[in-house]
Amino acid sequence: MTTIRELSAHKDSIVTLKGWIYNIRSSKAIHFLELRDGSGLCQCIVSAEDVPAEVFQAAGTLKQESSVEITGKVLEDERSVGGYELHATGLQIIQVAENYPITPKEHGVEFLMENRHLWLRSRRQWAAMQVRNAIQFAIHRFFQQEGFIQMDAPIFTGNAAEGTTTLFETDYFDEKAYLTQSGQLYGEAMAMAHGKIYTFGPTFRAEKSKTRRHLTEFWMIEPEMAFYDLNMNMDLAEKFVKFIVKTVLEEKKSELELLERDTTFLTKAVENPFIRLSYTEAVEQLRSDKTASMLHEMEQNRTEELGTIKEELEEIKKEHGSAKKWRKTQIDQRIKEIHARMDQIEEDLRNIPVWKKSAAGFEWGGDFGGSDETILTMQYDTPLMIHRYPAEVKAFYMKRDPENEKLALALDVLAPEGYGEIIGGSQREDSLEELQSRIAEHKLPEEVFSWYLDLRRYGTVPHAGFGLGLERTVGWICGLSHVRETIPFPRMLGRLRP
Ligand code: 4AD
Ligand code: MG
Repeated sequence: MTTIRELSAHKDSIVTLKGWIYNIRSSKAIHFLELRDGSGLCQCIVSAEDVPAEVFQAAGTLKQESSVEITGKVLEDERSVGGYELHATGLQIIQVAENYPITPKEHGVEFLMENRHLWLRSRRQWAAMQVRNAIQFAIHRFFQQEGFIQMDAPIFTGNAAEGTTTLFETDYFDEKAYLTQSGQLYGEAMAMAHGKIYTFGPTFRAEKSKTRRHLTEFWMIEPEMAFYDLNMNMDLAEKFVKFIVKTVLEEKKSELELLERDTTFLTKAVENPFIRLSYTEAVEQLRSDKTASMLHEMEQNRTEELGTIKEELEEIKKEHGSAKKWRKTQIDQRIKEIHARMDQIEEDLRNIPVWKKSAAGFEWGGDFGGSDETILTMQYDTPLMIHRYPAEVKAFYMKRDPENEKLALALDVLAPEGYGEIIGGSQREDSLEELQSRIAEHKLPEEVFSWYLDLRRYGTVPHAGFGLGLERTVGWICGLSHVRETIPFPRMLGRLRP
């Protein structure tokens, strides 16, 4: 048995592939079977000339997702999806599938989410998961090369790490426990034992809002480093993100093509230094005339574009009636695209006035909302690193800026193209007394943090770290508009099954 990915090593020889029928087209003497085997897609040609009559006839009964074993000769073909075709000499049917619910016609996203267990087989979903895996592997490679060790933080915890409003509570033998929101506090303990560590695990937040960026269960990668300050933390975060993007660009080119990902900004993220702005500078930027006029221009462009594509829609609708069959298919496809684009533009046009107001009226001291992040990132073509946030909007464990007590030595990395925050991190408070007063200010119970305070009692050192959200990173790199397509089985408000 061979896999589709390995076909290039078998040019002109006979191989056997096992997989599922992705698509089938037939003419009198030829069946074109598009086969997927998990490693790729390959067109298999079953010709009446090359196979016994009963095999040819059986091939004609196959339906989408039927499982088969096909033997044949590997021929190079540039026009073919993977560059190779299989000219079948034999075909064995494992099962003729029942009518498959997900057909090439368009389905609503709710329907697809209900069928996530099958939707995963579709091309785009397949490509996104292949990229996700490449990112996961790259993350391990990066940290292992940099001298970190992976250590695992517990999932059941006895205390909050990231605020008390998004905790999932559970019963732990008659005691209250929470699903972890972040492995960081444990990461700090582990860094004091091993110097440089990273955690890679699931984290949970009871996010009650439906947004394209929030899951209730997501995977976070959290490096924590002894003897690192904020600047070293930022340098590491930049090097890390660059490594991930570069690896995907090199190793997952065909998947990105399948996803129709424009890689211009990804390439810039690898080649150019990230922009670094302090929170205060970012606020000035939001409130600036430059931002206002950018939004104004955007609104005008969108309005114009909407007019143009509406005209095009009218034209091709008129043409549809008298068009030949092939042209009708083309027109239907274009109509679909136009509707999708119109939805997007209309959403933008609803948003822009809200964004304008929120940006112009932004007051120093508040946290950035999703739209503020979008506006900020739209003005740069590499990721944006924002540092030194007002301490009030950030977590209790962050160290204050010695030059300005109001600021925390925090860091967020915002992905370009409107994707927003992918990393949050900081230098940590390393003084016992300061940390005790922070815990009190945040009205957190000191006794559950006694072990965490111990880290400041026994050889405290400056240290720092950050957390990268895996799904948001996959979403940005793949160019997906919603995190629900970045994880095999997403968990969100209103979505627990399948
Ligand atoms: O900014 P956050 O909340 O930071 C922490 O949890 C720190 N303890 C990390 C650390 O310093 N070790 O979360 C980090 C990242 C975010 O930037 C985002 O990418 C992701 O986790 N994230 C989410 N992703 C999907 N759905 C959610 N509900 C998310 N909440 C955070
Ligand atoms: Mg954050």
